[in-house]
Amino acid sequence: MTKDIIILILLLIVLFLTYLINKKKVKKIIYKSKIKKINISDFDQIFDEKIISKNLKGPKEDAIIKSFNISPQNKIVGMTSDYEAWIISALSKKSNKIFEFGTCSGKTTYLMALNSNKDAKITSLTLGPNQVKNLNKESTDNKISFRNIINESIYEKFLFSGTDVENKINIIFEDSTKFDESKYINKFDLIFIDGGHTYSVVKNDSEKSFKMINKNGIILWHDYVPGKQSAKNVVNYLNEISKEKNILNIRDTSLCIFRNRD
Ligand SMILES: C[S@@+](CC[C@H](N)C(=O)[O-])C[C@H]1O[C@@H](n2cnc3c(N)ncnc32)[C@H](O)[C@@H]1O
Repeated sequence: MTKDIIILILLLIVLFLTYLINKKKVKKIIYKSKIKKINISDFDQIFDEKIISKNLKGPKEDAIIKSFNISPQNKIVGMTSDYEAWIISALSKKSNKIFEFGTCSGKTTYLMALNSNKDAKITSLTLGPNQVKNLNKESTDNKISFRNIINESIYEKFLFSGTDVENKINIIFEDSTKFDESKYINKFDLIFIDGGHTYSVVKNDSEKSFKMINKNGIILWHDYVPGKQSAKNVVNYLNEISKEKNILNIRDTSLCIFRNRD
């Protein structure tokens, strides 16, 4: 009897350790994306690849970007992956008016400024350290996402501060739920939604973006990661609206994308 119990406990430990080692893979199986996946090259022709040789393909000129890396020791929160950053940078090359919800360190803002043409303007809306004290948490808002808003609202200077492209960027320190979008209707070619990840904020930012995007403009959302606790509300909201809007999940990224055909 005791022998059986020991074997059972060992088996459970092995199962638990296997789960820990393969956590990402297991989560992918359990929490399937409800949004259709697409290869970025099937979404926009700037991502078409050029054939270099029988076994090698690479980016065409349209998708060659200016970039930089942040050292892992420099613990900056809320960043995109290299592949996501490349997609956003390449789309910025053909966008003149760009809007971002959520600046944080300004990594993506900087990339958008580096890659857009010299007359392009980038507006980025964010919360400063002094603005998080009076934030409202709605009953539908995930606790971890609410806490992350506070942890990520720590910058007053950004990665692009003092650089040659700073003049292309306008930072607005304001709560996006109070932001008046009426001056910006149909104005933007590209909008990146990466502000608060609570349900109320993602819904607010998305609804405003649908009004602010121009015809053929593109909206991107960051952090569509089914199974990730801090992204739970982003996933719920996007799953819901993707029933009405043609929102797609870019394969191998946490980015969702939408092109405004209206
Ligand atoms: C995940 S970080 C953004 C990361 C950034 N886009 C990047 O790619 O490096 C989230 C940002 O959203 C901002 N934010 C969160 N809730 C907000 C709100 N209600 N209004 C405006 N900004 C908000 C935070 O202050 C923080 O700067």
